Amino acid sequence: MKRSLSGIKPTGNLTLGNYIGALRNFKNYQDEYENFIFIADLHALTLPIEPSFLRNNTKDIVAFYLAAGLDPEKTTIFLQSDVSAHSELNSILINYLYMGELSRMTQFKDKSQKMNQNAIGLGLFAYPVLMCADILLYNADVVPVGEDQKQHVELCRDLVHRFNNRYNKELFTMPTPVIPKIGARIMSLSDPSKKMSKSDPKGDIFLKDDLNIIRKKIMSAVTDTGSDVYYDPINKPGISNLMMIYAALSDKTIEEVNEQFKDIHQYGTFKKIVADKVIEEIGPFQERYKAIINSDLIDKVLEEGAKKASYVANKTLSKVKKTVGLYVRKK
Ligand code: AMP
Ligand code: TRP
Repeated sequence: MKRSLSGIKPTGNLTLGNYIGALRNFKNYQDEYENFIFIADLHALTLPIEPSFLRNNTKDIVAFYLAAGLDPEKTTIFLQSDVSAHSELNSILINYLYMGELSRMTQFKDKSQKMNQNAIGLGLFAYPVLMCADILLYNADVVPVGEDQKQHVELCRDLVHRFNNRYNKELFTMPTPVIPKIGARIMSLSDPSKKMSKSDPKGDIFLKDDLNIIRKKIMSAVTDTGSDVYYDPINKPGISNLMMIYAALSDKTIEEVNEQFKDIHQYGTFKKIVADKVIEEIGPFQERYKAIINSDLIDKVLEEGAKKASYVANKTLSKVKKTVGLYVRKK
């Protein structure tokens, strides 16, 4: 059976961008693939983070996974930090990726640019190495992610070539990034030239926002001049972003959505339809989240997930150790 793997790092409050670009799609693989979905909590340490926030947010994301339809019977849900093989493979792989290629990663450039240049953590620089370990431990065939993570998965593909060639065997499976056709890059509601991102709260819709606030944010989203509603991301980035949100949540194409809104000549009317759609989806999602967060399901799911994931990950780790020449005792 083919395998799918993805994860989210618990660094900030999850947004509608995370939901549409990633979370919502994770369940698509659980029937036909062996599905591994984890929380990249070690990755969350690559930038300073308040411990209590990290802990609570981690729990929240498990509840979000379940609320978004992941079934723990079908999907292995686990914490990266619960499976020590991630860190162990990381310390092997770190020798096979190059500083040049890591320094060209867009995410590293974006994040490090804003920082004091003397205090850029090594973990931030080496972020993609750990991400390669995450993917390769499970020999994932597909990695569903939003647009911004494609580059990291491509780096992982380069590493697979390099590693398999060097040891002259098909040790690692070649992973393919799967980017949603619609909604791979949801933009900020206050500045549609920027990505909606957890670390940039202006213009975000948070998954835990009160429904009235969600409606307000959509009704006051920055739009463009004119009053016609059609998809044109260059000249009408604000409207196009809202159309993208609508299309993703309705499982429609942009052409279908263009057709649907062609007779609307008032942004207000259009925004109300978008707000209704978002609330129709996020309202029940929030209800499910509330029931889960107040139950004892989370620890149970994580315990079971850690066991299942460790079993698979340790097998790969052991193969890698043998391949590179580390001595592995017979059991
Ligand atoms: P991150 O917030 O970087 O941990 O991202 C978690 C997942 O959500 C990744 O697969 C991202 O590609 C995806 N994602 C984050 N922001 C957006 C966005 N604005 N639009 C679409 N997908 C996103
Ligand atoms: N880097 C991803 C993000 O920021 C999270 C992540 C870590 C991930 N390891 C992964 C995603 C492996 C897919 C596969 O969203």
